[in-house]
Amino acid sequence: MGDHFNILLLFLALAAVITVVFLIVYSSSKRAVEVGGMHKANKKRVVFLLTLSALAIILLSVTIPHSPYYLFADATPSKVVYVGAQQFSFVMSNQQLDPKRPGAGTPVKLKAGEIVEFRVISFDVNHGFGIYNDKAELIAQTQAMPGYVNKLRWKFEKPGTYNILCLEYCGAAHSFMRSSFTVK
Ligand code: CUA
Repeated sequence: MGDHFNILLLFLALAAVITVVFLIVYSSSKRAVEVGGMHKANKKRVVFLLTLSALAIILLSVTIPHSPYYLFADATPSKVVYVGAQQFSFVMSNQQLDPKRPGAGTPVKLKAGEIVEFRVISFDVNHGFGIYNDKAELIAQTQAMPGYVNKLRWKFEKPGTYNILCLEYCGAAHSFMRSSFTVK
């Protein structure tokens, strides 16, 4: 959680800075507006905006730590699956993929209840890596980007066949770009 928590703190600090700047600008422009009946209306607006900002900050700080991004962040995955995306297929392997031989993957074996870490890369353009259960519900996803390794951790509770669909338009055959794997 360490890094994630620091990022959250950074965002909160930025929000605080923005609020302070807003207050300084508001108080320096206050005197000019006091002529006429505008003062009251502006005060209401400021109270409204500050309440809205405070609510947004509270909501974000409460909900962000529970976003899927932080799932299993402190756990040690029992299995690593290397995923390579390319127009228009996925390669999955328990061994690191060789970009020079993108077709060479080994069938992955996953067990229900274990934490899996997918390390997702792309051999060409941006793709999506979406995992769907047997009811065609999206249960986890990340992007496949050239030059980056995107890590996605997930614990499959139920054995069964899971489908992978590309979630980012990547060319003419995008909608046919899919794969599947089995969890025992
Ligand atoms: Cu790959 Cu869409």
